[in-house]
Amino acid sequence: MTHVHVPGVRELIPEHEIRARVLSLAERIDEDYSEVGELLLLGVLRGSYIFIADLSRALSIDRRVDFIALSSYEREEQRSGVRLIMDARVPIEGRHVLVVEDILDTGGTLTYLLDLLAARHPASIRSCVLVRKPEQKRQVEADYVGFEIPDTWVVGYGLDYDDRFRALPFIGTVDPDALD
Ligand code: IMP
Ligand code: MG
Repeated sequence: MTHVHVPGVRELIPEHEIRARVLSLAERIDEDYSEVGELLLLGVLRGSYIFIADLSRALSIDRRVDFIALSSYEREEQRSGVRLIMDARVPIEGRHVLVVEDILDTGGTLTYLLDLLAARHPASIRSCVLVRKPEQKRQVEADYVGFEIPDTWVVGYGLDYDDRFRALPFIGTVDPDALD
């Protein structure tokens, strides 16, 4: 076990719990896609890069990994629009696609992405999110969810606060007033 102390960040989900949960998600996905030729894991940059690295390695089924980049929302604004910054390289048509996202909050990001991809006629499309916040009026649900978390800003395991803390091995809550 690594112990990392970062001022302003409080551990919410320890590393070993993330590891165990990723393995159990991978088991379910292996089962659900056992009859399918190949699965395309489509990671949403940048928040999902560590999650997809671990998830893709924990799977046994045939899989490819590709990425798409969307604009992240501005903390100062209420609900800014979602924008495509970088598209996938692998053609989506006819493939079984699993979108791998870091966080499901309002669902605005996921809705945008699922609409975009559905228009390209995949064989199937589902989503897997690492953490889910308790939003009441969510526009869309995810098929696989790692953890339910409180409505607070979280960092670590790929997640950032102003591009900081992505490389922390655990998921933690951040107190902006206590940062260096
Ligand atoms: P949604 O579109 O409201 O579902 O917001 C989801 C997106 O906002 C995610 O893809 C994240 O990139 C970002 N986000 C929301 N909450 C957090 C957080 O607590 N930490 C880091 N990123 C977050
Ligand atoms: Mg994101």
